[in-house]
Amino acid sequence: MVKKNACVFISGYGSNLRSLINSSRNQNFPINIRLVVSNKINAKGILYAKKNSIPYLFINTKKRNFESILLKEIKKYKISLICLAGYMKVISKKFLNDYGKKIINIHPSLLPKFKGLNTFERILKNDEKKTGCTVHYVNEKLDNGKNIVQKSFFISKNDNIKILKEKTQRLEYKAFSEAIIKIYRYN
Ligand code: GRF
Repeated sequence: MVKKNACVFISGYGSNLRSLINSSRNQNFPINIRLVVSNKINAKGILYAKKNSIPYLFINTKKRNFESILLKEIKKYKISLICLAGYMKVISKKFLNDYGKKIINIHPSLLPKFKGLNTFERILKNDEKKTGCTVHYVNEKLDNGKNIVQKSFFISKNDNIKILKEKTQRLEYKAFSEAIIKIYRYN
C-alpha cells in the first residue's frame, strides 16, 4: 500500500498527535506523518515530533504572510491530508482554497452540539446525558464541516470537567485513526 503524506497541526499537548504517530507505525494505516506544524513555540506536542524524527515547523501567525509560508512547506512535503489536532486557530477560506485538499479536525463534542471553546463546561451546565467527540472535514465555518466519525458515551453523575476530558480524549484517539482509515478505504 502506498501511504499518503500527512501533516498534523497542533497548539498544545499533542496527545492526539502521539496517537496518530502510533497508528501510522502500522503498515496498513493509510498515512505517514511527514510534518508537524505548531503555532505555539513551546507546544509540548513538538516533543513527539522530535522523538519520532518528524520535521516540525513553528509558524508565527502574527506574520502577515504566514499562510503562504505554510503552503510552501506543505507543498514541499507533498502533503495530501492535514489533520488539525488541538490547533487553536481558524483556517482561513483562502488557505482552504489554495491548499485544495483534505483538512480534518477533531472536536470534543457531538457536533453540531457545542461548537467552539470551553466545551466540557458547557456540556455539564446543559445537563447533557451523552457526549463524545467528532472528526469532521474542515470548511470556512468553525467546527462545521461534514462529520466523518463520531463516538459517544453516557455522562455519569460524578463526571467533572477533568473526567469528561479524559473520557473524551480516550475516544478521540480511536476516532481520529478510524476517520483516516474511513477516508482512504476506497482510494
Ligand atoms: C483535543 O481534545 C481536541 O478535541 C481539541 O483539542 C484537544 C487537543 O488535545 N480540539 P491534544 O493536544 O491532542 O492532547
